[in-house]
Amino acid sequence: MGKRKLSDIPNLGGYGVFVDDLDFQHLSREEWKELGMLHMKKLVMIIRKTGLKRQHFHKLMRAWGRDRQNYAATLFAKYPWANKDRHRLMDSSKVTDHEKAILKEYDKIGGNSDGAILRVCGDGTGLFAHGELQWHSNESGDIAFTPGVALLGDHGMTDSATGFMVTAPYYYSLSESFRSELDEMVLIHNFQDGKINVEGENNLLYKNMCPEPDTEIPLVIQSPAGIKGFHFPYNTVTGIKGMSKSDSTRFLNDLKWGLANYTYDYWWENDDDLIIFDNSIVQHRRLGSTKDRLCYRYQFDYTYLQYSMSKRRYMPYMIEPYMSRYKEKMNNIVSLTF
Ligand SMILES: [Fe+2]
Repeated sequence: MGKRKLSDIPNLGGYGVFVDDLDFQHLSREEWKELGMLHMKKLVMIIRKTGLKRQHFHKLMRAWGRDRQNYAATLFAKYPWANKDRHRLMDSSKVTDHEKAILKEYDKIGGNSDGAILRVCGDGTGLFAHGELQWHSNESGDIAFTPGVALLGDHGMTDSATGFMVTAPYYYSLSESFRSELDEMVLIHNFQDGKINVEGENNLLYKNMCPEPDTEIPLVIQSPAGIKGFHFPYNTVTGIKGMSKSDSTRFLNDLKWGLANYTYDYWWENDDDLIIFDNSIVQHRRLGSTKDRLCYRYQFDYTYLQYSMSKRRYMPYMIEPYMSRYKEKMNNIVSLTF
């Protein structure tokens, strides 16, 4: 991989890596996969000054895993006769108006172009258009959430930051007995209005953060590389299973207190930086100005890296019935390749 340099991202407790001087023009597929493995272990990877454009970005990310957007995948699974053709769904009387509205929104932000790379921008043609976004994970209240996200800047990026909160170091810093208590804990998720975007803009896709009310998801899960941490996205968690509202709030506030030590806001240094982060046990946020800002988002699972690493499919959960529920949903929405 020649002269590429690696350095730690501050504050993330040993997780998080900067990659500089990476020459994408002379990068072999093996070297890129090796970086993928490193990303899986580090959870957050920031590759500065990539020189990449959208098409090349797509090709690279496809080598790590398949693109996943659960709202689209769920609709396609519900209407298999449409053969993943959005136009057939739009024309059908079997598809509800609400579902059509979601598809329309998805089309608007780039979901109809090849490769399911979505535009994230501030001119009304992208996802999460305006303003700052508070701590959240994507598809956070979906038991089969997509585990990885990549953002490639295009233009207008350098007045904004993408921030990360890693939960693994805090989890591992706790006593073994407390951890085994936490391992049994289950959080309740619901879609909550205005929880992500401070400017109060809520589109339909936001609701896919948690499609089913009162979804139960264990607090402690593992990342695709087997790192344990908290799946505790602030946008959809509304309580702890079997605990009163006030006890839940107190407990979760303590947890937030501990997690606040492990955050880092990366102010984009270059328009062509590439940021890749875990979406299972890491939360992210956006700060700064979104004026004339455009980046591309590829949301993915780690299928191909996972295959090289362990030959085993990703299983986020360690306890039942969540393992079974996860498998069932995955069987429904994704064609499993190994
Ligand atoms: Fe996000």
